Amino acid sequence: MQRTLVLLKPDAVQRRLVGEIIRRFEQKGLRLAGLKMVQASRDLAEQHYAVHRGKPFYESLLTFLTSGPTIAMVWEGREAVSVTRLLMGLTDGARSAPGTIRGDFGLSVQNNLIHGSDSPESADAEIALWFRPDELVNYTCADAAWIG
Ligand code: RTP
Ligand code: MG
Repeated sequence: MQRTLVLLKPDAVQRRLVGEIIRRFEQKGLRLAGLKMVQASRDLAEQHYAVHRGKPFYESLLTFLTSGPTIAMVWEGREAVSVTRLLMGLTDGARSAPGTIRGDFGLSVQNNLIHGSDSPESADAEIALWFRPDELVNYTCADAAWIG
């Protein structure tokens, strides 16, 4: 089973969209393996978005991610990485299709509510950055055999 890291960024918390977004992941059939609220430090934000260091939006992105609490989650299931990216929509809310999280709830490029790992390799590294192994829980959902 594939795992991915999902962050509900500070704008999702401030706008009280946490429940609405989690509902979509549950409804899709992914399994919640870990969840916590984190006030990200500058150091954590830098490590998480290290790939964007030097880009024009980097400093603003770090300020945004550290501006309030973030909900960090691990979701698991078949093709969890790409399924999550499809649920999210494109980076720019204005270009994201209706029905996606970014398409339904925002117009901004930066304040786009949610992060999802972009590959299984990134997911492994990002999960290790945000969670200790003992914070992830293994269990079987009652409907697992029906979901795939
Ligand atoms: P994420 O990593 O957060 O899941 O988002 P993503 O893959 O869709 O987009 P990425 O290119 O990795 O960019 C990371 C985050 O940086 C902010 N951003 N701002 N002002 C800009 O041009 C710009 N471009 C990106 C967004 O918050 C984006 O999600
Ligand atoms: Mg990205």
